[in-house]
Amino acid sequence: MVINNSLSSEKIINNNLSEEDLKKFREQGFIGPFKFMEADEVASLTKELKKITARAFFWKRLVAKIARIFKIQDHQIPSFVWGKAKWGKGLHATIPLMYKVSNDPVILDKISSILGDNVLQWSTQILSKTSDVDYPWHGDVEHIEWEGITVWLALSNVSDQTPMDIVTRTHALPNYTYPQELNRNEGIDLNDDQAVLEAAQKLDPECELLSMKLKPGEFFIFAGRLWHVPRIYSSLERTVMISQYSPPSEKIQIPTTFEPPITWKSSLPPCVLAKGKDDYGHNLVVEPPE
Ligand SMILES: [Fe+2]
Repeated sequence: MVINNSLSSEKIINNNLSEEDLKKFREQGFIGPFKFMEADEVASLTKELKKITARAFFWKRLVAKIARIFKIQDHQIPSFVWGKAKWGKGLHATIPLMYKVSNDPVILDKISSILGDNVLQWSTQILSKTSDVDYPWHGDVEHIEWEGITVWLALSNVSDQTPMDIVTRTHALPNYTYPQELNRNEGIDLNDDQAVLEAAQKLDPECELLSMKLKPGEFFIFAGRLWHVPRIYSSLERTVMISQYSPPSEKIQIPTTFEPPITWKSSLPPCVLAKGKDDYGHNLVVEPPE
């Protein structure tokens, strides 16, 4: 299957990463922030995305409320309540506006600069949260299994009070050592910034802790394996859109646990071929939503 992305054909400027940006991404594990849209356009986009998502997943939200009462974990909710999305990260495959935003050339051309001509999009979700202060440092469990990159698009109530903290260069540590592993094996406290940074620097002395502070309408790109933690020091509800992309050679699955040993659902998540072709055929590739 070959798809030519032409969602915003009027944007004919070059959105690719420069050689210098690409070098920085490969070494540091992140690049950006970049401007996606004007700050005054963000509020209406966020409102629309939230409204569509709430409407599309009415039953999911009802089931989730009941599950919370019975202390059932979100990932234990059967995937059929998500419909074609199959899981909370599958919104690119069901909501046209979500697909359109996450495949805009301003974003996709940069993704393609990193991943090459063939790009599989396997996740997009909207996250609205009021507090992440106690969230631990982590590497996303999916990327223990496969490589990819993540786009973090700042929507509403995003400020210096809602940074994404990262430790640079950790995407390329030997044998991909990740924070949860260091917690298990060495008792590193994953809520202690200094301890996490020191653990990383033991493996690569050039690692640095950075706070990515974005403005509404900006995005940055990070390697899926980079150590990270979202912070919210504000009482306002912060909304971001997170999308993930990999080469079609990677086999994409849905985790059922978030602590090793990671287990995976037998049914595959919906992926969209954002660019190029899939020569592998081992993922569930679906048509973009209409
Ligand atoms: Fe994460």
